[in-house]
Amino acid sequence: MDISRRRFLATAGFATAVSAVPGRLLAEIEKRTPPLPDLTRWSDVRALFPLAPGLMHFSSFFFVSHPRPVREAIDAYRAAIDANPLLAVERRLFDPNESSILEEVYKAAAPYMGARPDELALTPNTTTGLALVYHGLPLAPGDEVLVTTHDHFVHHEAVRTATARAGAKTRRVALYEDAANVSVADVTTRLERAITPATRVVGATWVHSSTGVRLPIRAMAEAVRRVNASRDPARQILFVVDGVHGFGCTDESAAELGCDFFSAGTHKWIFAPRGTGVLWGRADRWPLIRPTIPSFASRSLYESWMNGAAPGPTTAKDVSPGGFLAFEHQWAMTAAFRLHEKLGRARVAARIRQLNDQLKHGLAAMRHVRLHTPIDPALSAGIVCFEVDGLKPEAVVEKLLERHIVASTSPYRVTYARLSPSLMNDEREVDAALRAVRELSAT
Ligand SMILES: Cc1ncc(COP(=O)(O)O)c(C=O)c1O
Repeated sequence: MDISRRRFLATAGFATAVSAVPGRLLAEIEKRTPPLPDLTRWSDVRALFPLAPGLMHFSSFFFVSHPRPVREAIDAYRAAIDANPLLAVERRLFDPNESSILEEVYKAAAPYMGARPDELALTPNTTTGLALVYHGLPLAPGDEVLVTTHDHFVHHEAVRTATARAGAKTRRVALYEDAANVSVADVTTRLERAITPATRVVGATWVHSSTGVRLPIRAMAEAVRRVNASRDPARQILFVVDGVHGFGCTDESAAELGCDFFSAGTHKWIFAPRGTGVLWGRADRWPLIRPTIPSFASRSLYESWMNGAAPGPTTAKDVSPGGFLAFEHQWAMTAAFRLHEKLGRARVAARIRQLNDQLKHGLAAMRHVRLHTPIDPALSAGIVCFEVDGLKPEAVVEKLLERHIVASTSPYRVTYARLSPSLMNDEREVDAALRAVRELSAT
């Protein structure tokens, strides 16, 4: 810390000084954020969320309702920034003598992801992470990015714009025709067959918000590895995954799925503040990326600029989009990962699996319902897609809402009704949803 800053702090008054020093800031935040309560009962977990009463919320995968510990952390950081925007932000992010507050976020997220803290970039959402990867990869004319027909609009758009810019091509492969009967062998065979010598990148989506299918990412990564084994090291295929709907509801480490890059918003299943996300990349893959947006997370990048030196090889931090952000949201990501740590990843996944199993088996037994999501929990996660005879998906959603059930439709060319049992629900609510769908046969 330089002398003028020290003097300023010493004379700036208690409140300002406390919120100015990162170590003390964290102590201050801790004071304002009570310890997590006992969360052994699912009803106590549910009570953390201020969702409107009188409704059964079966669409929580869409966008987070901040749970109490996350709201408290946001409020505490907001108060510190409101009290002194300059000191609160400058000291915590940019002071070379202080460790960056972002280290706290990396440290909280990395163990959950099975990653190293330095393999993570912080993004505002899945969309931005995907765009940073595809636009950052050194694609050349003639190269091909192979994606699937099942990916989300934002994934296809990121690939379309990145390949157009590079003069490269893109192609889509269907990994299954009938979602309900998807198999690991079929998916990997179709993928392997679709790869051509021009393929430089494979992009896929872990859990499809169109059908509820959970792709076998590890087996797909193995398939990519088999192709890479006979390839020139300079032309290895990279595997990019949109992981948002498997992240926070399954018991798998994102960094151990075998892909090269993994992008996920943390504002869905992870319960972190709205407008937050992570982009994980294998440590040895980051140097391949050309950063698109100047970073505020990378002190070395700033030092290179200050010294008129060329930046070193790209790191994850260099790829975190910079500029001033809603920092109280970004910094409060730690509270969400701590909540998941306390809940236990395996326990959360088991609960979500139990409720989804209940829903899927109930729907599968109804003659007027066609279930599109696989019954197999290894090939599905927390989203259940279905059709009701004689009713458009939008009508199903409307009729369920009349019965106080918040469902959604999938925003794809072929659209289905969706129910997503999560920690916001319990067995009774799943039964109520099943009863409501059963009643639709008569309407
Ligand atoms: C599969 C999938 N990918 C990406 C997105 C966009 O997520 P984000 O808001 O984190 O960019 C969605 C939206 O729900 C989605 O369903």
